[in-house]
Amino acid sequence: MSTTPIDRRTLMRLGLSGLGGLVLVSGMPSLGSSAEGTDAALSPGAQDDFSFVQLSDVHLGFSGARVNPDSQGTLDKAVAAVNALDKRPEFVIFTGDLTHLVEDEAVRKSRMAAFMEAAGRLTAKTVRFMPGEHDASLDRGEMYQQFFGAMHYTFDVKGVHFIVLDNVSDPAAVIGQQQLDWLKADLAKLKTDARIVVFTHRPLFDLYPQWDWNTKDGQSVIDVLMPYANVTVFYGHIHQEHHHSTGHIQHHAALSLMFALPAPGSLPKKAPVPWDPASPYKGLGYRTVAASSRQGPFLPLDLPVVRA
Ligand SMILES: [Fe+2]
Repeated sequence: MSTTPIDRRTLMRLGLSGLGGLVLVSGMPSLGSSAEGTDAALSPGAQDDFSFVQLSDVHLGFSGARVNPDSQGTLDKAVAAVNALDKRPEFVIFTGDLTHLVEDEAVRKSRMAAFMEAAGRLTAKTVRFMPGEHDASLDRGEMYQQFFGAMHYTFDVKGVHFIVLDNVSDPAAVIGQQQLDWLKADLAKLKTDARIVVFTHRPLFDLYPQWDWNTKDGQSVIDVLMPYANVTVFYGHIHQEHHHSTGHIQHHAALSLMFALPAPGSLPKKAPVPWDPASPYKGLGYRTVAASSRQGPFLPLDLPVVRA
């Protein structure tokens, strides 16, 4: 699989200079200034505890005052909150729907550029991306890749193996056989007690298929992961906190940074939860994940984007 780190030249081509010293990576961690570029198991800090941040479903470009009157400013508030965290995360990852779906390619491009500018204000060492169906389903991720690089890839941090899967660029909402084969080959290199974290946009299990809250061939991914004893999945798409297990594999859905969605199947139709003036930003937030690199589960902590 080819990967495309977001380097300075790419940013210049996209008209996005001025992003400071931040290392923006999507794909193999091949940039020399990234702390993740070495085999984590061999590096001196390999046994340190660490944390990372998951941001999801930003939907930049969405507008609707009754849903989010601060649709232009919510991402910036999240960036400021993450930059203010006491412990600097090892990396920040956006788990899809960076931009809100739009057919007009020029508008889509401007949304992706605006997103990249905003993400560039994160002070984390590394920022990673993956697509949601809003970003990638209209052109199978072609424009997304120009901005953000590969759509499925792996990286290692302090002895933990991270796998980013694309279950959105195929309009059929599948991972597909090719990516599944790639995943099998990647996993075959690991011991069955390896610590593995998987990022997806859609849930891998059938949370609520009537609302597109599933991956059609997600079970085949779960089957491939099952022999591994330490697997945690973090995903987005459903715009709310949700925790589920398939056997020993934990699945944690993250909040959105644009609008909340109702609990699975709780309403006849899926629609954004209206803004509550008495409790602004309710249901919007970001996630920090604490990780011991030696053992124990990866525990998510979901935080409001604006504290009450
Ligand atoms: Fe979304």
